[in-house]
Amino acid sequence: MKFTIKTDLITKIPADIITLAVNDKNQILCSKQIDTSTLKHLNNILKLGDLNERTGSTLLVHGTTKYSRAILLRIGVHSDLTPKEFFKGIASVSDELNNIKFTKIIFPINQFVNKLITEQAATEYLVRALFDKVYVINSLKTQNKSKPANFQVYLHANKLTIKEIKLGLKNGQAISRGVDLTKDLGNLPPNICTPTYLASEAKKLAREYKMKVTILEQKQIEKLKMDSFLAVAKGSREAPKFIVLEHKKGPTNKKPIVLVGKGITFDAGGISIKPSTDMDEMKYDMGGAATVLGVMKTVGELNLPLNIIMVVPTCENLPDGKAVKPGDIVKSMSGQTIEVLNTDAEGRLILCDALTYSERFKPEVVIDVATLTGACVIALGHHISAVFSNYNPLADELKNAGETALDSVWQMPMEDEYQPQLNSNFADMANIGGRAGGSITAACFLSRFAKKYNWAHIDIAGTAWKSGKEKGSTGRPVSLLSQFLIKRIKN
Ligand code: BES
Ligand code: MN
Ligand code: ZN
Repeated sequence: MKFTIKTDLITKIPADIITLAVNDKNQILCSKQIDTSTLKHLNNILKLGDLNERTGSTLLVHGTTKYSRAILLRIGVHSDLTPKEFFKGIASVSDELNNIKFTKIIFPINQFVNKLITEQAATEYLVRALFDKVYVINSLKTQNKSKPANFQVYLHANKLTIKEIKLGLKNGQAISRGVDLTKDLGNLPPNICTPTYLASEAKKLAREYKMKVTILEQKQIEKLKMDSFLAVAKGSREAPKFIVLEHKKGPTNKKPIVLVGKGITFDAGGISIKPSTDMDEMKYDMGGAATVLGVMKTVGELNLPLNIIMVVPTCENLPDGKAVKPGDIVKSMSGQTIEVLNTDAEGRLILCDALTYSERFKPEVVIDVATLTGACVIALGHHISAVFSNYNPLADELKNAGETALDSVWQMPMEDEYQPQLNSNFADMANIGGRAGGSITAACFLSRFAKKYNWAHIDIAGTAWKSGKEKGSTGRPVSLLSQFLIKRIKN
């Protein structure tokens, strides 16, 4: 997919297909900018009433004079079109495109612009929706490979708004490249996407974007006394890695933003083994790590003038003769002791040491991202991620960024009243807090290791991947975090 911005008259752009917005009154918004015979043909089709009235509906039309086809997209009342409706609309346009052969498509941008959607936002959403839809992972198929999308997209702009459109294209592409990396890492099988593989991806990003990478090996992790992290890694034959990737392009005196990602490349549950149904999906348990690696790609693509540090503790969680057992007590890097009552609550055990490690960066904020709890899926389902924070302004910032990015989060409570659920008779705390409020007690556990800075935790257990026929990584919440960072530049 290649994008080119065009400011010529629409009729001068050579293409075989054009996307046209139609309002609630069956009017084509660009009617004055397209040739009269195409317009006449399309108006006749619209009179037949085949374009559904629901916003986001599409109709593929053949036989227009100027183009071999046109796609009509219902947008309802133009001034009321919301970013979400627009994004979904472009996704349905993409679905139409999947079924036809074409090489060049025009999207006039101005037809989507209103008080809720700026030129820049329209472009960014459009680019992101197209990337999202054309994504395929083929590398391990030898037969029936789906063809990668290979078409030209003309974004039609008027000369006055070209700057905004360029910016929207730049951000949209950078975010999409991050999202694609996150999807690839998530979708790869766990025998390929190991901790070592994630470390090599970090090295690749460091080379490509001139970042500093540090991979801590078992010995160094032991020296740092991350015994909670190492307890999880013990049951696996794959070497654990502790990955640090630094992008320092902000003012030297400015404190960094630290992004921590849970990197369990396979979660069988350990000795507290999971049921086997759908266990394959636990390859996605490195979704937090994949997210922060994807965000670092976006950061590199945009060369953001910020100080950002990515931290990823990564290992497998497997049953084994040497695996950590229920009842074992481990000492975290912070010095606090933890009674491991359930070895399947391993995410918090690796994250707590990463949170303690992050103190050394004297961070402005720390945000961790993790496929942490099944309870989060029960609470919020698959559409919205959960955010927990010890600093409400940070939660608000993330909520706003999520709204803008169409990658939303819902703030969950984290009151002190939940903390006693983690009481242990034998250690400073237990690693589980019972069934009630499971995603909250998991956050409460982490909060005990994040006391020294402003911190937010994003539980993406319900949003990182889709199950069933459409099984695959969603690339979430790369867009949210990218938007969060982009908005930070202005402050
Ligand atoms: N990776 C899982 C959480 C998960 C489960 C994410 C299902 C998405 C779908 C995590 O490590 C886990 O197993 N959590 C346990 C915690 C429990 C033992 C307190 C859970 O949620 O069941
Ligand atoms: Mn688990
Ligand atoms: Zn897990």
